[in-house]
Amino acid sequence: MNNKKEFVEKLLKEMTLEEKIGQMVQYGKLNDEIKDKIRQGKVGSLLNVQGAKTVNELQKIAVNETRLGIPLLIGDDVIHGYRTTFPIPLAESCSWDLDLIQKSASIAAKEAKSCGVNWIFAPMVDIARDPRWGRIAEGAGEDHYLGAEIAKARVKGFQTLENEYPLTASCPKHYVGYGAVIGGRDYNNVDMSENYLKTYYLPPFIAAYEVGALTTMCSFNDLFAVPLSVNKKVLRGILREELNFNGLVVSDWESVEESIYHRVSKDRKEAALKGLLASCDIDMHSGVYDDNLKQVVEEHPELIELIDEAVYRILSVKYDLGLFENPYVDEELHKQVILHPEHRKHALEVAKRSIVLLENKNGILPLKDTNQTIALIGPYANDQENHLGCWSCKGAKEDVISIYQALATNLKKTKILVESACDINGQNLDLDKAIETAKHCDIIILALGEPRYYSGENNNRMNLNLPGFQEKLVEEIVKLNKPVIALIASGRPLTIGNISEKVDALVWTWHLGIEAGNAIYEVLFGLTNPSGKLTVTFPKHIGQIPLYYNHKSTGRPNFPRYIDGDDKPLYPFGYGLSYSHFYYSNLKLKKEVISKEEVLEFTIDVTNNGPYAGEEIVQVYFQDHFASVTLPVKQLCAFTKVYLEPLETKTVHFTISPNQFGLYNENNEFVIEPGTFTLYVGSNSVKVISHDFSIKE
Ligand code: BGC
Repeated sequence: MNNKKEFVEKLLKEMTLEEKIGQMVQYGKLNDEIKDKIRQGKVGSLLNVQGAKTVNELQKIAVNETRLGIPLLIGDDVIHGYRTTFPIPLAESCSWDLDLIQKSASIAAKEAKSCGVNWIFAPMVDIARDPRWGRIAEGAGEDHYLGAEIAKARVKGFQTLENEYPLTASCPKHYVGYGAVIGGRDYNNVDMSENYLKTYYLPPFIAAYEVGALTTMCSFNDLFAVPLSVNKKVLRGILREELNFNGLVVSDWESVEESIYHRVSKDRKEAALKGLLASCDIDMHSGVYDDNLKQVVEEHPELIELIDEAVYRILSVKYDLGLFENPYVDEELHKQVILHPEHRKHALEVAKRSIVLLENKNGILPLKDTNQTIALIGPYANDQENHLGCWSCKGAKEDVISIYQALATNLKKTKILVESACDINGQNLDLDKAIETAKHCDIIILALGEPRYYSGENNNRMNLNLPGFQEKLVEEIVKLNKPVIALIASGRPLTIGNISEKVDALVWTWHLGIEAGNAIYEVLFGLTNPSGKLTVTFPKHIGQIPLYYNHKSTGRPNFPRYIDGDDKPLYPFGYGLSYSHFYYSNLKLKKEVISKEEVLEFTIDVTNNGPYAGEEIVQVYFQDHFASVTLPVKQLCAFTKVYLEPLETKTVHFTISPNQFGLYNENNEFVIEPGTFTLYVGSNSVKVISHDFSIKE
């Protein structure tokens, strides 16, 4: 640490103003002009650079051809795998499996690093409650407690130590509130109270910083009426001063410059000045720092202090990554690392745990491999590309196992008829062909979904139905009165009440990555007992959005909210079926009254009533009966996974820190208020058993 301080301070003293500003400049499109800028010490980092050889060449320019030889940060959006593509982050969050999630991030970092990337623009830790917003796919869902746990796992994974240095620097994003863009329209405004910000939106960021995230990215949106990249209150105030985040802040793509289009900066120079004042250390791609910061500092010489602080933070990250010792990567390494069989194996492990079983009427699943014919119908039947999901980095469709490939390879006795019926958008439906195929089978599997480009950045939707004519396909197929299993792939919850009613089983597969087909095969045929649980509420109707389980109490909790329907979800947060049934009993608290300093300890018995062995995600929620401010009706505060053989009972032990029961009061200070609470334990946010406890003065 001291070495770092000494090293960085010494280097800083040797730097000219231009060299300092250079460190604050990042470009995302490499060309000869940018290479020249690197040579002149005017660029400190890049993104979207491909391959170990190219990166080494660029590092050589930075190290050997500049006066001070400062290596480059090389960033990339490694959102759910580099080449080995894992389930989209929202899907992966449904595994609630922190070890697996950490491992995915670690593998992604390893592959990225072998190709020269040393900075990963992930995890996305934005709380998202609006499935219209396409970027809901990139995060961990609607809950801030689970979001915080997953944020920690992902940061630790990306920053896995290898030879004493983190493989890559992580970059939790987008600080902050981005998931609350009004109407689910990407890049839109955000308006919330400081209480909401601190209660719901900040916790995953705080958690990510606590485990040592080296950098963070600020968001496109405004908050408290100022765009984040130039927001002194939220960046310099909350992030730096309140949260003590000392790492590097990078803007989002051109977002400092965009303060002009938000109409809070009158020109590029003012945008640069405001970005600096707010403590946005690196300007991503817009060039506003490159073009204007020198003049800004010449006009306001006192601002050199802020430049020094920013450059100190940037150089510190380079130091922490060991780039001053060795910025190069072994150009042969990627051949052994990319798509390593162990990485594929992990992709399958995590994909099968990300699947959520939503309906299984009369226990139709799991299927058996017998002398039967299955008709596999729908746009996902033999599609490879779309399982990659949005933001698939270097993911390639030829790596993906389709559903048909997996069934055809693994089933010995079952005959499979396959028919796409329509294209991936649900257009050009050939109903006759689909029905003809379905007529010749015993069981129908419908492989449906949204194309992958329907989610991700600025891929927002105003309808949440299955695209095109897929609902029509379901309607006609069920008329054949054969068993129908629907598989739905998506990057978000969809409004599928009319489908879930009609089919015998509904399996939510999300976009599962390269092992999608095998994971789906394992779940359908019972080699894996599904254990995924929703991390986001499924609304019945688009008009209910935003709908989330941990909303705050209101003055009229029992009034019907809609003339034309209720405000209940189709599937609540935490929901997901298993082929077994888990029974909860004996919720026992060690002490029913605790002090503000004491942990709450309790046990609960979970029994697998059979008939299959399986994993259950045990969820713990609480409600604070009365407080000085309005609070969530229910809030997740702990969870664990238990594996149970049929008819086995396990006693699960929980210890919860009293801080979990704290709140932000009227002055936005974190406090634990004494009083009575209810603890809820169960298999989802609705199906719970409860017990009261209290916290004394
Ligand atoms: C996205 C970021 C991403 C950046 C760099 C932006 O448009 O909002 O999440 O990291 O581009 O690709």
